[in-house]
Amino acid sequence: MPKLIAIAVAAVLPLAAFAQSPIVIKFSHVVATNTPKGKGADAFKKCADERARGRALVEVYPNSTLYKDGEEMNAIQLGAVQMLAPSLAKFGPLGVRDFEAFDLPYLFDGYEDVHKVTDGAIGQSLFRKLEAKGIIGLAYWDNGMREMSANKALRTPDDFKGLKMRIQSSKVLDMQMRALGASPQAMAFSEVYQALQTGVVDGTENTFSNLYTQKMHEVQKYLTISDHGYIGYAVIVNKPFWDGLPRDLRTTLEGCMKEATKVANDNARKDNEEALEAVKKSGRTQVITLTPQEKAAWKKALVKVHKEAEERIPRDLIQSIYKETGFKPD
Ligand code: LMR
Repeated sequence: MPKLIAIAVAAVLPLAAFAQSPIVIKFSHVVATNTPKGKGADAFKKCADERARGRALVEVYPNSTLYKDGEEMNAIQLGAVQMLAPSLAKFGPLGVRDFEAFDLPYLFDGYEDVHKVTDGAIGQSLFRKLEAKGIIGLAYWDNGMREMSANKALRTPDDFKGLKMRIQSSKVLDMQMRALGASPQAMAFSEVYQALQTGVVDGTENTFSNLYTQKMHEVQKYLTISDHGYIGYAVIVNKPFWDGLPRDLRTTLEGCMKEATKVANDNARKDNEEALEAVKKSGRTQVITLTPQEKAAWKKALVKVHKEAEERIPRDLIQSIYKETGFKPD
């Protein structure tokens, strides 16, 4: 074979091999697989692996197996991981405090209220704030309402006095626990079970799905159905990575993200209902339902957080969410 052709072939071969290796999308998250987010991530992988026809490969890392809270955001900005779905309560440390508006107590009555915000202009305007951080927001995924648990029955705001309560890394949640007289302890999700087991913290707040799938009910004697807040997620990607994808492949992945969003959100309500039933059935935790008077006392104790939160979240953003959800702070 004439030398030049041999050289040309030798040059192209590795390129061809390189061109054929799939683009790897590492998707890291901190929860179990049998959760709304876990199912959404797996659905995205299944769809992408099928439709990308070998051009892309999604690797899902659940349960903080790749990055845990406090590491994820740095990793996505460095491009060490391509995709995450952090809780909306975890964007403060990134410098995008506005997402903490979702943590305001009693702001949302349920999923419909949340979707008025996430599926509308507010949701998109919040995503635009991520671009300056080298991140693109792709979708909002639901989990459910926040509930309180501890090794003491929590019926009245006074019951929280002096308790150490684990929270996500949100200043609004910090304000919320202080408003109840508790001492907030921000901690990575992967550390909560052990912290409850060893008494480093006395209690926590989370969705039924997270409490049950992390077995927290096994180390918490009481669970109060308070529905005092919401936990949801923003599915995010590294911007240079996403912008650098071939356009047709990006379109395929955007289609898969839409379908995965439906899977996550369709499972959110169901998974939380089933988790509550499973906690009750386990007999390990006494489940408390608040009376209307008790619920009113919680709301009265927590509504002041909305005013305090204006220290870090633009007042007009909070007001625009009130307009969407019909929430009245008084
Ligand atoms: C938590 O830290 O409690 C949650 O944000 C975990 C999750 O991602 O649902």
